[in-house]
Amino acid sequence: MTPKLLLVGGGKMGSALLTGLLAAQWAPIGDLVVSETDAAQRARLEEAHPGLTVVGGPVEAEDVLLAVKPDVAEPVLLTLAANGARRVLSIVAGISSARLEAVMPPGSVVVRAMPNTPSLVGAGVAGLSGGMAATSADLDWAEGILGAVGTVVRLPERQLDAVTGVSGSGPAYMFLVAEAMIEAGVTAGLSRDVSHKLVVGTMLGAARMMDETGEDPSQLRAAVTSPGGTTAAAIRTLEFKAVRSAFIEAVAAAVERSRQIGR
Ligand SMILES: NC(=O)c1ccc[n+]([C@@H]2O[C@H](COP(=O)([O-])OP(=O)(O)OC[C@H]3O[C@@H](n4cnc5c(N)ncnc54)[C@H](OP(=O)(O)O)[C@@H]3O)[C@@H](O)[C@H]2O)c1
Repeated sequence: MTPKLLLVGGGKMGSALLTGLLAAQWAPIGDLVVSETDAAQRARLEEAHPGLTVVGGPVEAEDVLLAVKPDVAEPVLLTLAANGARRVLSIVAGISSARLEAVMPPGSVVVRAMPNTPSLVGAGVAGLSGGMAATSADLDWAEGILGAVGTVVRLPERQLDAVTGVSGSGPAYMFLVAEAMIEAGVTAGLSRDVSHKLVVGTMLGAARMMDETGEDPSQLRAAVTSPGGTTAAAIRTLEFKAVRSAFIEAVAAAVERSRQIGR
C-alpha cells in the first residue's frame, strides 16, 4: 500500500515537520513513511516515533514532501518520479518549481514552500507557492500539511527567497538575540537560569502582544519607552550600534544566498 505521504529527508527540517504533523494528528502514523539515507538519523527517528516506517531508499508513493539539501534535490526527485511520485511539496531552499518539474513526468505537480523549524512545536510559519501544474486543490493539499504545524502565507514564487531570508532563517536570528540577552543578564548579575527564563518569557510575551493586539512593533516599542527612561537609554545604544541596519543587511545576505543556491 502506498503511503498518504512520503517524507524524503528526515533531517532537521524534515523531522521537525514530521513531529509537528504527528502531534497535530494530520494522519495516523501508519499513513506516513520517511525515507532517510543517514542510518544514525533513521535510528533516532524510529526511537522518537515508535511505529513509524523509516526506510533507507525510495519507495512507491504518489505524494512526496521533499526535505533534502538543495544540491541533491533534483537527482533525488528523479528517482522518486521513477517510483511513482506525481505531486511534490518541496521545502528545498532556492530550487525553482520549474527545475523540479523538469525532472518529473509532464503534468506532475510541484508546490514549493519555505517553512521554519518552529513547525516542531506547531508554531511554524511558511510561505507557499504553486508551480505550473498546481491547481488550487494542490495548494490546499500543501496548505493542509503546513497548516497543521503553523501559519501559511500564499505568495508568488519570486518572493520565496525573501521568505527564506525573513522567516526560513529567522528563528536563528531570534536565537542569537536570545543568546545575547541571556549573556547580558548574566553580566548584570543574574544567574544563567533566571536570565534564560526572563528572556524566553520576554520574547514569547512580545510576540504574543504583536499577534494579539495587531499593532505595529514601532507603536508597541514607543508605548514602553518613557522619555529619559531606562528603555530609551537601551534603544539609543542599540541604534548607535546599528542593530536595525545589521538586521536589514543580514536578511539581504540570506536572500542573496538563497538566490545563488537557485542559480
Ligand atoms: N533547517 C531549516 O531551518 C530549514 C528551513 C526551511 C527550509 N529548509 C530546507 O529543508 C531542506 C533540508 O534542510 P535540513 O536543515 O533539514 O538539512 P539536513 O538536516 O541535512 O536534512 C536532510 C536529510 O536528508 C537526508 N538525505 C540526503 N539524501 C537523501 C535521499 N536520497 N533520500 C532520503 N534522505 C536523504 C540527509 O542525509 P545525509 O546526512 O546522509 O545526507 C539528511 O539527513 C533544505 O533543502 C533546506 O533548504 C531548511
